[in-house]
Amino acid sequence: MRLLVTGGAGFIGSHFIGSFLSENPDAEAVNVDSLTYASIFKPDFERQFGRRYSFLRADIIDSEKMAAACRDADLVINFAAETHVDNSIATRCASQGQTSLALPPS
Ligand SMILES: NC(=O)c1ccc[n+]([C@@H]2O[C@H](COP(=O)([O-])OP(=O)(O)OC[C@H]3O[C@@H](n4cnc5c(N)ncnc54)[C@H](O)[C@@H]3O)[C@@H](O)[C@H]2O)c1
Repeated sequence: MRLLVTGGAGFIGSHFIGSFLSENPDAEAVNVDSLTYASIFKPDFERQFGRRYSFLRADIIDSEKMAAACRDADLVINFAAETHVDNSIATRCASQGQTSLALPPS
């Protein structure tokens, strides 16, 4: 199984990827994250999981990049979010739906 995980450099996403790849030795995960101030990127995933882990720096509203990234994925799990409430109010993220995952029509 090949997962595409958005927000995988954040708290929940990084723990999810680590647990998922540890418990499923045949699985692969692609982490798509724009690396905002909130990310806690875990560079050791490459060393820990080798080719089963890959990282793509991208914004989830970039539909072209998301379409390409999703092409080979069996499942997409969206953890990308503006999670700091004050920032989500102050920026256009919350008001304009900027954290909705952009996917092509199926
Ligand atoms: N932390 C918790 O205890 C908790 C509990 C329940 C639910 N959740 C939910 O889980 C999700 C993730 O929470 P978290 O605590 O891991 O947040 P986090 O702030 O630690 O991580 C969010 C990640 O999303 C990335 N990101 C933000 N906007 C992006 C964009 N437009 N494109 C690509 N990447 C983007 C950031 O760079 C960051 O790495 C949220 O929806 C949150 O509400 C969290």
